[in-house]
Amino acid sequence: MRRKLAAGNWKMNGLAADLDQIDALEAAHSAVDIDILICPPAPLLERMAARASKIAVGGQDCHASVSGAHTGDTAAAMLVDAGASHVILGHSERRTDHKETNDDVRAKARAAFDAGLIAIICVGETLAEREAANTLDIISGQLAGSIPDAANGTNLVVAYEPVWAIGTGLVPSTDQIGEVHDYIRAKLEARFGEGVGRSVRLLYGGSVKGSNAADIFAVSNVDGALVGGASLTTDAFSPIITALAAS
Ligand code: 13P
Repeated sequence: MRRKLAAGNWKMNGLAADLDQIDALEAAHSAVDIDILICPPAPLLERMAARASKIAVGGQDCHASVSGAHTGDTAAAMLVDAGASHVILGHSERRTDHKETNDDVRAKARAAFDAGLIAIICVGETLAEREAANTLDIISGQLAGSIPDAANGTNLVVAYEPVWAIGTGLVPSTDQIGEVHDYIRAKLEARFGEGVGRSVRLLYGGSVKGSNAADIFAVSNVDGALVGGASLTTDAFSPIITALAAS
């Protein structure tokens, strides 16, 4: 049985005053039997972790090395030290802004596993790749290249985030989401065996809102969501959590 996961990615948003959201979310969802995660900007991590009890806290990136001369970067063990249990890796914004390759993401994921973090590895096609009917090939390459051999259902979550759906209000049809999620599941089963492949949670991300969440969560092999903009306020994130818990 895969536990459902509602994950919020705050990206480069949030100051100390926004930590009040944590209290409100915890109060609103104290009884739901799903996992809730927020990945705030690094400077808020430790304070958020200290404030949260039900809600897990994660980083948005980590370095592949354990320490060293890497100005501005954060090692996986530092995230753990600050109270993180998860880390998002290979988000399309990092693949684009920081030219991260599949090899980079795989090395970071190995470092995350070694530090005891759950890695949420992101994959997804651009609009041009979808229009050229290359979606499944792109996903296949990203899965093969970004996921380390040491992955399993405990240390890995995969997030399917079509680049064209992020922050745009555009959402794939439920058939399109289902096609990719079923494909990811089949790829994981083929590589890691049925037992492990079936135990990895698959999140959908890209313009998830309270208004479309229930439809998305009804799709096969969707075990939760990775939410950007709608995770920034309790009012917007709460209905998504409620829809996932009811799915
Ligand atoms: P939006 O929910 O704002 O589209 O962002 C999705 C995302 O990139 C989450 O990682």
